[in-house]
Amino acid sequence: MTHRAAALFAALSLAMPAALAQAVAPPAIPHPIDGYLVTRAENNCLECHDRPRDIGGKRAKGQRVPAPASHYVGRLDARPEIAGGYFGCTSCHRPR
Ligand code: HEC
Ligand code: HEC
Repeated sequence: MTHRAAALFAALSLAMPAALAQAVAPPAIPHPIDGYLVTRAENNCLECHDRPRDIGGKRAKGQRVPAPASHYVGRLDARPEIAGGYFGCTSCHRPR
């Protein structure tokens, strides 16, 4: 991780409301994340997990899990964006 990315994560962690972080534990990441970049400009996690229309839908075992509604701002059926405090995925989600 670059210093810039580390600084960004630190800032995001500080911005995250403590109550929210404690209310529900973020699920661990069940797959390797080597090579999945999470920076201000690019976020490889979103290639698989940015599926707002699939939230609440049926899902076969092993299929990608859509990031939940809590991570978005805007209407889920109208191109919502990941909320700023949720962009640094790996500051909350850790590999198993
Ligand atoms: C190539 C597609 C892909 C990419 C890229 C990817 N994931 Fe995943 N992710 C999956 C799939 C598929 C599952 C479901 C695996 C399973 O259920 O066994 C999953 C599961 C998860 C889960 C578990 C959700 C739950 O409810 O248990 C988390 C958390 C997660 N990924 C976070 C991340 C993060 C953070 C990144 C970026 C660092 C990332 N993923 C990148 C495909 C991907
Ligand atoms: C501020 C901490 C935080 C950040 C940052 C964060 N998450 Fe989460 N995530 C959570 C929590 C807490 C949950 C479980 C409660 C909920 O649904 O909000 C969760 C749940 C999930 C789930 C499981 C959804 C399900 O239905 O089981 C996935 C997938 C996920 N997050 C992906 C991501 C991705 C991708 C990113 C980056 C774009 C990300 N998260 C950033 C805290 C976070």
